[in-house]
Amino acid sequence: MARNKITIIGAGNVGASCALWLAPMNLGDIVLKDIPAAGTMPAGKALDLLQCGPIMGYDSRIIGTTDYGPTEGSDVIVFTGGFPRKPGMSREDLVAKNEEVVVDVMNEVKRTSPNAVVIMVTNPLDTMAYVAYKTSGFARNHIMGQAGILDSARFRTFIAEELNVSVNSVQAFTIGGHGDEMVPLVRSATVGGVPLTKALSKARLDAIVERTRKGGGEVVQLLGTSAYYAPGAASAQMVEAILNDRKLIVPVAAYLDGEYGLKDMYFGVMAKLGRNGVEEIIEVDLDAEERAALDKSVELIRGTMGALVQVKPA
Ligand code: NAI
Ligand code: 2OP
Repeated sequence: MARNKITIIGAGNVGASCALWLAPMNLGDIVLKDIPAAGTMPAGKALDLLQCGPIMGYDSRIIGTTDYGPTEGSDVIVFTGGFPRKPGMSREDLVAKNEEVVVDVMNEVKRTSPNAVVIMVTNPLDTMAYVAYKTSGFARNHIMGQAGILDSARFRTFIAEELNVSVNSVQAFTIGGHGDEMVPLVRSATVGGVPLTKALSKARLDAIVERTRKGGGEVVQLLGTSAYYAPGAASAQMVEAILNDRKLIVPVAAYLDGEYGLKDMYFGVMAKLGRNGVEEIIEVDLDAEERAALDKSVELIRGTMGALVQVKPA
């Protein structure tokens, strides 16, 4: 049986971290692809990761390259290529720089891996997923963005810390765009089956929601560049759900065509992930406050989409 091929575009911080989490999952072979200017760096990282195999007990083959040849026929592509956010820089500042990268790379991807499921990570996330979709012409279920698993993980981490419980006992999701206007779903969050609203005061809940929304910025301030361990782990979870056809319900940036009354944009929604990518979008019931927050987030994404240079929304 042919082994799955997972290509990671961009062998930088998020790309290499994703490979680090993916390799022990034994899902298939991993190709780290970067630009020619990266020289032998991708090959060096790949060799280092390959040599973890005997210690960690995995047989995933890992190679690094600056050519598209070894990426040909990929089953899944994790797209982390481009530029990260630096302190004082918003995700939106990245639009034009990363749009160019996404257009260039997706033109190559549609030629070399026409059947791949693509997980976008490059920021600004929802807008770059839109660019990838429009450039590739792939089916909508084959192009998605990673953000909601990361944002929800931050939300769950803060809740678990506050209540001194295992993160595994906390079920909580964020939807909406990957930005400071994301929508943490407080009403449906539970801790051991008990509604979170019963476990915490409104003031503590508000503080956790605020910290979740600013979760990316908090790491940037501490680290001097954007997060990569958790973004890499979130992307790896999506790859696993797809290749193992898990039917996992998680928040995903998906192309909307009428869901929530929204059209022609990528936006974080609950979705079922399986071998066909985004197999179903699940609309959750929102109260007036949540809907207003969602609309604010939509506005922000539409604003970012308006800054696109090559791919103009209709
Ligand atoms: P990084 O600078 O460490 O790595 C980016 C890599 O992409 C570099 O090695 C660069 O040479 C490579 N690259 C640039 N153009 C390329 C091209 N055309 N083809 C292939 N590779 C190319 O950056 P980092 O920290 O890994 O972040 C990558 C992206 O992910 C950024 O846009 C960042 O904002 C975004 N990000 C998104 C998150 C999310 O949850 N969606 C979370 C964290 C980061
Ligand atoms: C994050 O949320 C910057 O999108 C990146 O960490």
